Amino acid sequence: MTDFEMGRRSFLKTAVAAAIISAVPVSIRKAQASISANKNGSSFLTKKRILGQGKAAMEVSALGFGVMGMTYNRSEHPDKKQCIRLLHEAVDKGVTLFDTAIIYGPLTNEELAGEALSPYKDKINITTKFGHEVINGKATGRQDSRPETIRRYCEESLKRLRLEALPMFYQHRFDRKIPIEDVAGTIGDLVREGKVLRWGMCEVSPVTIRKAHSVYPLTAIQSEYHFMHRDVENNGVLETCRELGIGFVPYSPLNRGFLGGNINEYTQFDTNNDNRQTLPRFTPEAIRQNTKIVNILQNFGRTRGITSSQVALAWLLQKAPWIVPIPGTTKSAHLDENLHSLEISCSQQDWQELEKSIAAIPIMGNRYNAEQQQQVGL
Ligand SMILES: NC(=O)c1ccc[n+]([C@@H]2O[C@H](COP(=O)([O-])OP(=O)(O)OC[C@H]3O[C@@H](n4cnc5c(N)ncnc54)[C@H](OP(=O)(O)O)[C@@H]3O)[C@@H](O)[C@H]2O)c1
Repeated sequence: MTDFEMGRRSFLKTAVAAAIISAVPVSIRKAQASISANKNGSSFLTKKRILGQGKAAMEVSALGFGVMGMTYNRSEHPDKKQCIRLLHEAVDKGVTLFDTAIIYGPLTNEELAGEALSPYKDKINITTKFGHEVINGKATGRQDSRPETIRRYCEESLKRLRLEALPMFYQHRFDRKIPIEDVAGTIGDLVREGKVLRWGMCEVSPVTIRKAHSVYPLTAIQSEYHFMHRDVENNGVLETCRELGIGFVPYSPLNRGFLGGNINEYTQFDTNNDNRQTLPRFTPEAIRQNTKIVNILQNFGRTRGITSSQVALAWLLQKAPWIVPIPGTTKSAHLDENLHSLEISCSQQDWQELEKSIAAIPIMGNRYNAEQQQQVGL
C-alpha cells in the first residue's frame, strides 16, 4: 500500500469512526470511559481485564490483537513496515495483549512480533505457543510437548521475541503422548527459572484443564469461540474456567473474518498461505448458506449504528469479565472498528433475541477438516 493510500485510509478510518460514534444511540454508549482521546485526537483504550487469579493473574486490555494473520493463514500480506506500523498503532491505542505462536509462519510471526513489540515489553504482553513440531523452520504436522522440547522452544521463542521472560506460554495443542502433568511441571520449572511468567492451553477438555491447573495454575484457556462456534458454552470449558478462576481468550472471534461481512462465495483465498480454503465452512456453497448469519448480525447492528464485527465482539465481551477476544487485522480502520466494540452495551434481552435468531439458522460445514479436528484435545 502506498503512503497516499495509507493517508487516505487513515482519513476514511477517522471519518468512519466518527460516523460510528455519532450514530451510536446514547443507550449503548455506556462504556465511553473505556476509550478516551489522546493528545493527537485519536482514541485509545483504557479498559482492562484480568485473566487468571493469584500468581497466575495477568492484567491486559479488554480486547487483544491476534498477530497471526499478518504473516500466516490469511490472504492479506502487507509488508513488514506496514505491519509494524499497525502493531505500534495498536500499542498507542492501549492494546496490551498480542498473540502469536511458533507455528505461525512458522517462526516469521514471532520474529515480526519481537521486532515490533519488544521495545514496549514493559507495558504490553506478547503471548506465544508451543506444541506443533517445527524442524528447521518447517511444520511436520506432529505434536511435540516433551519437556526437553518445551525448554528448547522456550529458549528459541525468547530469542525471536527479544524478551528475557515469556509473559505467557500456551500449549497450542494437546500432545496425546505426553501426560499433561509433565507439561505443567515443566512450565512450573520454567517459571521458577524466570523464563516464563504464566501459561495457558488451547482447545482442551475440562478434565485436562483441571489436571493441568492442579500442577501449575493456568492463566487462560484459548479456544475458538464466536457466534458460529459455541462449543465451549456446552462442553464445560467456560464453566470450568469460571469455577477455577482461569481467564478465557476466544480465538478467531470473527470466525476468521467471516462475521465481518467482507467474504462472499466469490472470495479468492491465497492458495499458498490461507487455511480458510481447507475449511469446510469456507467452501462457496457453505459461505452462501452461512451468510444468512452475517445478515442477522448486520440487521442487529444497523438499528444501533454498529457493524457486524462490532456486534460479534461486543457479544463475546458481555459474556464474562474474564473473557478477552483477540481479533486479527491488517488494517487500521478495522483495528479502530474493533476497539469501538468496547463501547457497546445492549440489554440481555437484546442479546438473547439475537442468539435465538442465529440459532434458527443451520450452519453449513464443520469448523475444521478431519485432520485439524483430530488435533483438538477434547
Ligand atoms: N489457539 C489457536 O489454535 C488459534 C487458532 C487460530 C487463531 N488464533 C489466534 O486468534 C487470532 C485471531 O484469529 P483469526 O485471525 O483466525 O480470526 P479473526 O480475528 O476472527 O479474523 C481475522 C480476519 O478478520 C478480518 N477482520 C478483522 N477485523 C475486521 C472488521 N472489523 N471487519 C471486517 N473484517 C475484519 C481480518 O482481515 P483484515 O486484515 O482485512 O482486517 C482477518 O482476515 C490469531 O491472530 C491468532 O493469534 C489462535
